[in-house]
Amino acid sequence: MTKTVILLGSSRSKGNTYKIVQQLMTRLDADLIDLNEYTISPYDYESKNRGDDFLPLIKRIADDYDRLIVATPVYWYTMSATLKIFFDRLSDCIRIEKETGRKLRGKSLGALCCGSEAMPTPAFFTPIKMSADYLGMNYIGDVHTWISDTDIEEDVKDIINDFASQLV
Ligand SMILES: Cc1cc2nc3c(=O)[nH]c(=O)nc-3n(C[C@H](O)[C@H](O)[C@H](O)COP(=O)(O)O)c2cc1C
Repeated sequence: MTKTVILLGSSRSKGNTYKIVQQLMTRLDADLIDLNEYTISPYDYESKNRGDDFLPLIKRIADDYDRLIVATPVYWYTMSATLKIFFDRLSDCIRIEKETGRKLRGKSLGALCCGSEAMPTPAFFTPIKMSADYLGMNYIGDVHTWISDTDIEEDVKDIINDFASQLV
């Protein structure tokens, strides 16, 4: 059976993106990793940060899961800094942790974002899709969602449920 992990990259652990992820998890069997709970510092060319939480985390992800779904709020028309730092650190898997980089190849990667508006940001998912391609991962799709007030609107629930059934 495919083992799926959702990587939550919001500045609010229990915020809107989390609400969307929770809705997705009603339809999709997946574990959740909140990147906020880890100390992951920005990419360092000299790898002086190799002792932070990134390498143990990515090794565990590479060992335990076949499918990764990254979940990010829309912050200034792009992914959160939390998720971007995570992506930047994947460079460690190309440079100092190549074995883990090789393990990522062939895994699946999907993405979701949560903004405050129904209108999607153009090309929002392009960096994620191109990163998947570069890493040899299979890009399995993405979904734009939004929460304009506090609760998930019914049409957004339908969008998430459709995304889940596309993955199942
Ligand atoms: C720093 C920041 C930048 C934002 N930029 C955008 C944006 O460009 N487009 C948008 O639709 N919403 C934007 N928003 C609103 C959030 O995307 C929206 O409230 C989202 O649901 C928040 O999810 P969160 O609770 O997981 O952080 C921004 C919010 C913040 C805090």
